[in-house]
Amino acid sequence: MELLTKIQASLGTPYYQDSDVLLYCGDSLELMKDINDELLPLTVTSPPYNIGKEYEEPKSIDQYLEWTRNWIEQIYRISSSNGSFWLNLGYTALPGKAKAIPLPYLIWDRVPFFLIQEVIWNYGAGVAGKKFFSPRNEKFLWYVKDSADYTFNLDDIRDPNVKYPNQRKNGKLRCNPLGKNPTDVWQIAKVTSGKNRSSSERTIHPAQFPIDLVSRAILASSNRGDVVLDPFVGSGSTIEAALRKGRKAVGFELESRYLDIAVDRIKNARRDISVQESQMSIFTDLSSRENGR
Ligand SMILES: C[S@@+](CC[C@H](N)C(=O)[O-])C[C@H]1O[C@@H](n2cnc3c(N)ncnc32)[C@H](O)[C@@H]1O
Repeated sequence: MELLTKIQASLGTPYYQDSDVLLYCGDSLELMKDINDELLPLTVTSPPYNIGKEYEEPKSIDQYLEWTRNWIEQIYRISSSNGSFWLNLGYTALPGKAKAIPLPYLIWDRVPFFLIQEVIWNYGAGVAGKKFFSPRNEKFLWYVKDSADYTFNLDDIRDPNVKYPNQRKNGKLRCNPLGKNPTDVWQIAKVTSGKNRSSSERTIHPAQFPIDLVSRAILASSNRGDVVLDPFVGSGSTIEAALRKGRKAVGFELESRYLDIAVDRIKNARRDISVQESQMSIFTDLSSRENGR
């Protein structure tokens, strides 16, 4: 049975469905408990950070960490044996200890996955510090279930921006013609708001992922046709990126007003993809006619 069909058989009627996407409105921890098998090749997500955003229930730090352990355990359980888990985390206040402690410091021993790498997401704009350095990074933790068996499609995410692309050693090009390894520091602009500087991706969600950020994780850690899970969908950035990169997607979100934004984004992405496909097929028809001439 196909993976989306299996998930739907476990979870019932979704909030939104098409041939490549299932979205459910509800608590991701409870929804994941109803999925039986070790199925998912990739999960990419950004959970609430417990910093008082409009979509958060305030929790004590102990409650937050326990909740984090619980939902990550579910991801681990339903991930396939060669699956990956990309987790975007920022900072939270730790009264008496830290103004803003990196959440990865607090969860390191609560995660059953194997940590391959901590990627630094460096974004260009943000709060201007008065008595501290202006914060410009969050973390993107890349975990796998099996450290000896996981997907890493380096050629699909190479950075073509190479300083000396034609440099040679013993007659051979020094650099891969597809570009260089993009390193563990990713400079990707935040989705900005504001009258004059709002980025085109911007929705009303207060913590939106940039599509470029999540696309790199998806391309690196999954293959075309794979299913990508986001248990905290928000405005649907992971789902949109997955579709645009030829993957399928499953998402969970508590608030239907955010899912409605995600559904709009999915429909726009579908329109773009079908325009691209029809342009491609015109091009293929033309070149096969020319070749047959
Ligand atoms: C950091 S935001 C995710 C933003 C998303 N990456 C995007 O690009 O829009 C976290 C989201 O998790 C949702 N959420 C919080 N608790 C949840 C839960 N228990 N189950 C499902 N969704 C939850 C919130 O409503 C919020 O939209």
